[in-house]
Amino acid sequence: MAGLKILVIESRPDIAAWLAREGEARELDLTVGTGVTEVWSELLAGRFDCVAGAFNGDGALLERLPESIRPKRIPLRPEWNSDSTLRVRWSQLLNAWTGHGVTVTDTKWLKERFDDKMDVCHREFIESLRPVMGQLSEHEADLSEHSRRVGIFAARIGRALGLPSEKIRVLMVGGLVHDVGKIRIDPETLNKPGALTDEEWLSIFSHPEWGVEIVEDHAEEEEILGMVRHHHERFDGKGYPHKLRAGEIPPLARVLALADAYDAVTHDRPYKKGVSHRHAVKEMLKSAGTQFDPDVVRGFLASRLDRVKTA
Ligand SMILES: [Fe+2]
Ligand SMILES: [Fe+2]
Repeated sequence: MAGLKILVIESRPDIAAWLAREGEARELDLTVGTGVTEVWSELLAGRFDCVAGAFNGDGALLERLPESIRPKRIPLRPEWNSDSTLRVRWSQLLNAWTGHGVTVTDTKWLKERFDDKMDVCHREFIESLRPVMGQLSEHEADLSEHSRRVGIFAARIGRALGLPSEKIRVLMVGGLVHDVGKIRIDPETLNKPGALTDEEWLSIFSHPEWGVEIVEDHAEEEEILGMVRHHHERFDGKGYPHKLRAGEIPPLARVLALADAYDAVTHDRPYKKGVSHRHAVKEMLKSAGTQFDPDVVRGFLASRLDRVKTA
């Protein structure tokens, strides 16, 4: 076990806290996440050697894997109601980790199965954009964190909308790269607290198309390009760059647009303070049917983004 980096997914906060404590007591290099969407970003980032998760409830990450790569389950069933059953379950998890079960998924094992799938392409794609993303975070503080959060939020909304896991992964990747075109905007414009000139606005309005020019050298996937190009379109046709409306906007771009706006309003910017989740919910509701697709707003309400850990 020593040296293995382990990611455990558990959606119940009390159990997650308990797992974290127990892991620490055993000096395990263990991180506890509470949502399945985190797994995708962590796997894409390649930060963990193995992932462990319960097979029931909201944290059932392994059940959400495509059937072709889903590991066999072992039933770790006793309800997690008391400390004693938690101990039973913990020892079962430990047994699984030491080779007696498959609750734990070795990410190497997963990666082998992903090799034919698009995740590996996505990983390479993100790797290929890493230099430009690094440069970009020097231009605009928080941009890489913003992009990561938007990917997580979009994936979470996608899940609430019942999208299949392939689409959820694409949403995550789209979030990571959606603002890459900002690399061509003057950093002073990006961080300017006051009013922008016409020329500065023009460069802001151009960043989706610039993003496509950068991304299309590395990825041909229409859905990713669509998210980069159309993440500032509005449902009522008053967005940019193409003033598309409603169903003309690619579906995943409609999801990304809301995730992007949610992150923008709830986090501090150089020119304004972030608002609370409650306040953001009111804004999103007010904008259903104008700025945002009402169905996506419904998914947003069900996705409870305030419960998502993004740090
Ligand atoms: Fe943007
Ligand atoms: Fe953005």
